[in-house]
Amino acid sequence: MKISFVKPGLPVTGVVVVTAIAGGKLSASAAMLDKIAGGAIRRAILGSNFKGNKGQTLNLLAPAGGRLDRVMLVGLGKVIDITDLEMQKLGGRIYAGTQQVKKGLVTIVLDAVTGAKMSASEMASEIAFGANLRSYRFDKYKTKLKPDNKPTIKTLSIACAGFINARKKYISLSKIADGVFFTRDLVSEPPNILYPDTLAKQAKTLEKLGLKVQVLGESQMKRLGMGALLGVGQGSVRESRLVVMEWNGGSKSKGKIAQPVAFVGKGVTFDTGGISIKPSAGMEDMKWDMGGSAVVIGLMKALAGRQAKVNAVGVVGLVENMPGGNAQRPGDVVTSMSGQTIEVLNTDAEGRLVLADALHYTNERFKPKFMVNLATLTGAIIVSLGSHHAGLFSNNDQLCEKLTRAGEDVEERLWRLPLSDAYDKMINSQIADMQNIGGRGAGSITAAQFLQRFVGKTPWAHLDIAGVTWSKSDQPTVPKGGTAFGVRLLDRLVANNYES
Ligand code: BES
Ligand code: MN
Ligand code: ZN
Repeated sequence: MKISFVKPGLPVTGVVVVTAIAGGKLSASAAMLDKIAGGAIRRAILGSNFKGNKGQTLNLLAPAGGRLDRVMLVGLGKVIDITDLEMQKLGGRIYAGTQQVKKGLVTIVLDAVTGAKMSASEMASEIAFGANLRSYRFDKYKTKLKPDNKPTIKTLSIACAGFINARKKYISLSKIADGVFFTRDLVSEPPNILYPDTLAKQAKTLEKLGLKVQVLGESQMKRLGMGALLGVGQGSVRESRLVVMEWNGGSKSKGKIAQPVAFVGKGVTFDTGGISIKPSAGMEDMKWDMGGSAVVIGLMKALAGRQAKVNAVGVVGLVENMPGGNAQRPGDVVTSMSGQTIEVLNTDAEGRLVLADALHYTNERFKPKFMVNLATLTGAIIVSLGSHHAGLFSNNDQLCEKLTRAGEDVEERLWRLPLSDAYDKMINSQIADMQNIGGRGAGSITAAQFLQRFVGKTPWAHLDIAGVTWSKSDQPTVPKGGTAFGVRLLDRLVANNYES
């Protein structure tokens, strides 16, 4: 779908979308259209429950007085409801309601709303962003797509005052959408196609955007002493990888790149559980156990795409967790890169083992301002928070506040859970420095305590995204499937706080 911004005015063909505010008051363009159509729009409102509330729409087919196929009237809600996010959702809903238009052209006509915080041009770019986000599809493996199942919309055109500014702002927003789409693509790929080596190759493609991308193989990781990460991958015929991505768009001090911010992702390309094997029902979901890594990769793409003025590193640990003749056994003791030993009591608690080495490596090599890691780490977080908040764990209150704020800004919400010495004790081992599972209860917290043992004193936050990475239903700007939860959030964290 092409998105274009054009000068104000009503189109003569295709589908036109016009607005009304709460109370049912029509915009100037809607009123003009009503007049052309002999009062059909106002009559339709009287014959319906349309009140101009947000989320409401009213469709008029083939109105008299012109060649339009359809008029779609959408509610903006109350004037104070006109925000970035609401406009994005509106764009998503407009896309969903018009994607099957027969003639391919949809024109949204936006007039300024008196008293609103946003101009028509600002509204336009956010609506376009939302429509773009909603238009995502993953159908590369469908060989028999019937026309009825394919969107027929070709051009979404937005007519408003200040359309040149709207276009400019949208181009920057569309870079974030590019990152989101990349993440959704990676998360959707089947696990026979996407495994550590091929996922690393996907990350490598970011070099064309000006990122530095380095891929470490098993022999290099062995030399570094990454026994925790390598132990998880040893049962798989697919070799493990560690990918290090650097975006240096920020300042330099004395010719040296200033201290970066760091993002670390769990990339288990398939999690069978290993020898502590999972039940077969629903195991296919474990293709998206690399969701944390996909968010880090998509985020790096977004930051580079919009030329963010920040130095950021992204590190992802990529493994496949399989049973097999050489697989890790429950009871094995491994030595992590940090030197700390781990008794592996359950091979299905593998994400923390991967992150232990990835976090330590990132901390040692880059001495970052902070580290934020993302992982589909525990089923327990789904029990606690479902799919409306991700879990947040941290050793730093300020970082938590910034993350929570950014999450509210983009509606990718976080909820903080506690860390404490009492929980930390639950992972002490009888024979090693720690074990990879706690006792009964507090499964998400003991997993976070485990990670905390590998971050030293660096400000750090862990986002447990197991409940939010995959959506079973359509949301206004997120079609069902991979959500890319975290890309917009962390892009906003950077934009709010770390761009020089
Ligand atoms: N990848 C899973 C967590 C998960 C579960 C993500 C469901 C998404 C949906 C993780 O590796 C895992 O298996 N965790 C175990 C930990 C347990 C063995 C302590 C879990 O949550 O059951
Ligand atoms: Mn597991
Ligand atoms: Zn896992």
